[in-house]
Amino acid sequence: MRCIKCKAPANVEVRRHRSAFCAGCYPDWFRTQVQRTIDDHRMFSRDDRVLVAISGGKDSLALWHALLRLGYQTDGMYIRLGIGDYSVRSQAKSEAFAARHGLQLHQVDLAADHGFTIPQMRNQREGKPCAACGTVKRYHFNKVAVDLGYSVVATGHNLDDEAATLFGNVLHWQTDFLGRQGPVLESTHSNLARKVKPLYRLAERDSAAYAIIERIDYIVEECPMAIGAKSLAYKDTLNALEETQPGLKYQFLVGFLRQGRKALKTEDPVQIRQCAKCGQPTTAEVCAYCRMVERRLKKLPVRR
Ligand code: FES
Ligand code: ZN
Repeated sequence: MRCIKCKAPANVEVRRHRSAFCAGCYPDWFRTQVQRTIDDHRMFSRDDRVLVAISGGKDSLALWHALLRLGYQTDGMYIRLGIGDYSVRSQAKSEAFAARHGLQLHQVDLAADHGFTIPQMRNQREGKPCAACGTVKRYHFNKVAVDLGYSVVATGHNLDDEAATLFGNVLHWQTDFLGRQGPVLESTHSNLARKVKPLYRLAERDSAAYAIIERIDYIVEECPMAIGAKSLAYKDTLNALEETQPGLKYQFLVGFLRQGRKALKTEDPVQIRQCAKCGQPTTAEVCAYCRMVERRLKKLPVRR
């Protein structure tokens, strides 16, 4: 196999593109894909201040690195989730990356600043805190972005993440989630930052290859709380299909965004107001974050 750019022996194969690259040409290809996605969806410009959601994993650090090389103004934000050794090591990787590149990394410490950790947020039915963790992350990334004047929050969600989410939402016919799924979530309130996913057309292994070639030191293991999560089973199923049908995940996701989503999108403006407890934007009287923290910490049964 040869690099499609310079014809040197290839190091990375991208089967869905029927392409392969040498280690010298691959990073440019990766960054070009990121730039195209940003441009195609008008995600942000070089005048915007972008807050990158950092987990210490390959996707968020590869995204931060690529945005930096592409000349965007970025700072990072890391949430100390309190997931034992995993959190200690992912924090160290995130801080080391920021220090190495002279970048600012904002941090929120759930235990010290808010009196709880993610393992305490386990759902009594599923025994997993992943859904709660998603709510916590969305809440704090948005709050820090708005409080510190960032116009947009960029996350490292990749093709595998987005295809698995779509698959789960289709299996359960979550039409309201399907109508909202996409690479850009516009701000509909002055206290809501725009959310964008510049890696959504790149696969997990594309960011891993970028991180390795660019010598980005990331936390390799997955979050221990996610073991047995449905999203991982969906990824395995899609990977098995992709093995014999390269490009299937991409077609599934991009086909949905082009053709399926508009049928499910509701144009009704949702009434946004301020949470009675914390003042953050919400559609209910008390926001999902405040309700969840109160309910889980009191260990009350989860309402269905
Ligand atoms: Fe949130 Fe694992 S990173 S539960
Ligand atoms: Zn609230």
